[in-house]
Amino acid sequence: MKDLVTLGEFVIQKQHEYPGATGELSQIFGAIRLASKLVHREINKAGIADIVGSAGNENVQGEDQQKLDVYANEKFKSALAARGLVCGLASEEDDDFVEFDQPMNKGSKYVVLIDPVDGSSNIDVNVSVGTIFSIYRRVSPANGPVILEDFLQPGTAQVAAGYIIFGSSTMLVYTTGNGVNGFTFDPSIGVFYLSHQNLTFPKKGRIYSVNEGNYVHFPAGVKKFIKYCQERDDASDRPYSSRYIGSLVADFHRNLLKGGIFMYPSFAGHPKGKLRLLYECNPIAFITEQAGGIASDGKGRILEIQPSELHERTPLFVGSSELVKVAEEFMENHGSEI
Ligand code: AHG
Ligand code: MN
Ligand code: MN
Repeated sequence: MKDLVTLGEFVIQKQHEYPGATGELSQIFGAIRLASKLVHREINKAGIADIVGSAGNENVQGEDQQKLDVYANEKFKSALAARGLVCGLASEEDDDFVEFDQPMNKGSKYVVLIDPVDGSSNIDVNVSVGTIFSIYRRVSPANGPVILEDFLQPGTAQVAAGYIIFGSSTMLVYTTGNGVNGFTFDPSIGVFYLSHQNLTFPKKGRIYSVNEGNYVHFPAGVKKFIKYCQERDDASDRPYSSRYIGSLVADFHRNLLKGGIFMYPSFAGHPKGKLRLLYECNPIAFITEQAGGIASDGKGRILEIQPSELHERTPLFVGSSELVKVAEEFMENHGSEI
């Protein structure tokens, strides 16, 4: 039997393909790996440990924080801070970015943005959730204060991005801009093994994923595209199947493996949809493009949006290239705004 490659080995092997790499990025992956294992452990005893349910407070976006949101936020933050690997972090769960001001952190050139638990309303009902992360080089000088601009960079500036899916197995999927690879966690020994090498989006897909409860509030172009997915056309395999979990990571991961489109459009009263550009859409878009798919806000590349605030939202249409192109055409012809 061929020897399996662990995530740690893989990251180090890749590091050696870049002469001059200092290993800092590899160590950041080490910290993310550790925090992922802690979150995995808590999620997997969600029913018996005191981790289910609301923490009793709201985050900056007015959303009810779950106990696991708070737990995961702390674990990722402390794992990254404790090793002096990053100088700052911005989280969906915090009002503002945090600066790690220990001397060992101040010299670091990286910042991290994170959605500690994506799909957290699904924890209590035993449905897959995830973690999404994104790594940038700071734009401010090393050893000086960390500034907002370090975080407000377009997605094209990402150095690495990934997600962990806590599903029927736990997997970590990431890119450093040279393809996408997936690793499956073996909980019996606490190791992630390379299981999905060079993941690529099928060009076509037969799945559309959207919260159709919002249908009547969607822009005309989105409504027409959904009807297109549902119409019969034997030549193009339509009608497509509708699949919606309500955890972006889980919906995205399924579509990456099987082919499909995930949509979170604008809807009445929410001109920028629901999903957050920095913590959710940019990392997912980086992975998507590296896997040969398209990530669009309905008009253009997600990765080219210049963010203007930390918790900014954007509509998202992401997945198999042919499907996203068709969705964009519908929006161009019938309107993408509500
Ligand atoms: P989070 O738990 O980080 O706030 O994210 C939830 C997001 C995303 O995972 C999912 O795609 C979407 O919310 C589901 O929203 P609806 O319930 O409106 O469909
Ligand atoms: Mn989320
Ligand atoms: Mn979240």
